[in-house]
Amino acid sequence: MMITIPQVLTQDQVAALRALINHADAPWVDGRVTAGHQGASVKHNQQFDELSDAAAQAQAMVLHALECHPGFISAALPHRVYPPLFNRYGPGMAFGAHVDGAIRLHPHTGEKLRTDISATLFLNAPEDYDGGTLQIIDTYGTHAVKLPAGDLVLYPATSLHQVTPVTRGERLACFFWIESLVRDDTRRSIAYDLDTAIQRLNQTGADRAGIDTLVGCYHNLLRQWVTT
Ligand code: NI
Repeated sequence: MMITIPQVLTQDQVAALRALINHADAPWVDGRVTAGHQGASVKHNQQFDELSDAAAQAQAMVLHALECHPGFISAALPHRVYPPLFNRYGPGMAFGAHVDGAIRLHPHTGEKLRTDISATLFLNAPEDYDGGTLQIIDTYGTHAVKLPAGDLVLYPATSLHQVTPVTRGERLACFFWIESLVRDDTRRSIAYDLDTAIQRLNQTGADRAGIDTLVGCYHNLLRQWVTT
């Protein structure tokens, strides 16, 4: 399931994040520092030093916003979230087709995190740059994603994906991975649809007993499916 979630960050939060990471003295390094063997050969971008103090502040801001967002919780059913990383692409930079690594080591604890979901949170406006489109390739074709600042896309980490070359301006984004409580994408998608339907029924004043039965089904499905 690929899903876009609008306004995970407010415009004020986007501005605060950008002030933190996108200034002249900010510690940007070659993006290949976190790429695996397959990724390194096709990755050409810059990445914010994930161990810097500014990164810690920026990561905390993003993680807090995610924890507070019901749409994110419903779609991802997060168990653990990798501390968000930040990247930027100037003219000529791109990231060729690759599949993200299955396991990431937590940069502070060394804990192994299974990447079930890949996430990109856009930090500047699509009008700020040409190219730099995230393309996600699955069995239904190629999906082009280029979202307003503050919007998030989630997609299965099993997907082949790439970022097309930037030809003008600069693309600034945050990216991270989620180990979900529900590992299987199809099951997670069903749980999300069911939760979304229950929310709609709540908002439209549907029969209470019927809603309660569906809520029971939702939790009892999760009880079957949660893997941790
Ligand atoms: Ni990737």
